[in-house]
Amino acid sequence: MDARVDGKVAIVTGGSRGIGRATAFELLDSGAAGVVITSRRMENLEEAIDVLTEAGAPRDRLHASVARADDPEAAERTVAETVERFGSCDILVNNAGTNPAPGPLVDVDLAAVDKTWSVNQRGPLIWSQKVWHGWMKDHGGVIVNVASVGGLRPAPILGAYNISKAAVVFMTHQLAFELAPTVRVNAVAPAVVKTRLSELLWKTDEQAAASTHPLDRLGEPEDVARAITYLCSDEASWLTGVVLPVDGGVIGASGSLG
Ligand SMILES: NC(=O)c1ccc[n+]([C@@H]2O[C@H](COP(=O)([O-])OP(=O)(O)OC[C@H]3O[C@@H](n4cnc5c(N)ncnc54)[C@H](OP(=O)(O)O)[C@@H]3O)[C@@H](O)[C@H]2O)c1
Repeated sequence: MDARVDGKVAIVTGGSRGIGRATAFELLDSGAAGVVITSRRMENLEEAIDVLTEAGAPRDRLHASVARADDPEAAERTVAETVERFGSCDILVNNAGTNPAPGPLVDVDLAAVDKTWSVNQRGPLIWSQKVWHGWMKDHGGVIVNVASVGGLRPAPILGAYNISKAAVVFMTHQLAFELAPTVRVNAVAPAVVKTRLSELLWKTDEQAAASTHPLDRLGEPEDVARAITYLCSDEASWLTGVVLPVDGGVIGASGSLG
């Protein structure tokens, strides 16, 4: 299987590092005509562009847009900038995410919960709305949301985050239903991937964290980027409303009785 996105133009939110940056690279490596990466800080985006071009990505197919994930005006501006710069906006990867509210739900700080839910849950809805009205309703397209295995089943520590990802899972089904047949909407649900966001889960004892995954290793950003690129490609043209675990077997291959 050769997942290609030749000539397509993508926005990847949260593209300054981790899964988003790897996805930007994978999309360009698979033929994308342009990729717009977003984050809160231009210096982070510039650093990402340096890393991507050093790895062989074409600089003229990359564009940076400073945009908070939960800011509707920034999302609308970014979609317009994308169409102006590259001529279309065929793919949206709702990847930006945050986890500032760890701990048991009954004690969790409510201001931190508001932030988590705003970025992780309201954010993907905002970007989906803007990309629909700004391009996809007339031209079609593909949306991929980055959910989490935490949105599929309960787990310790990350309850508020997991609820936001469960909302992303349901939003994927709802938008797939509402936007078919023009736009396909799918999600990936990663387990622990070695990025800054998840350091709390693996940094102190990587092998212990890996051993909770049947395939006995943690994910790399590229594992998720390849799955996202597949869902964006025509190889997945009959898939919509799908939530694909990318998780070393956590959902599909774990025994429930230990
Ligand atoms: N790593 C895992 O184990 C794991 C597992 C399941 C799901 N996920 C999901 O994967 C996605 C990517 O996370 P990651 O693991 O790659 O984390 P990461 O390396 O920390 O990257 C997070 C990205 O999101 C951006 N971002 C954070 N808050 C933002 C905001 N308010 N507005 C705009 N951009 C923002 C960051 O950019 P700036 O800091 O430059 O703004 C950065 O580019 C997230 O949705 C996360 O929930 C991760």
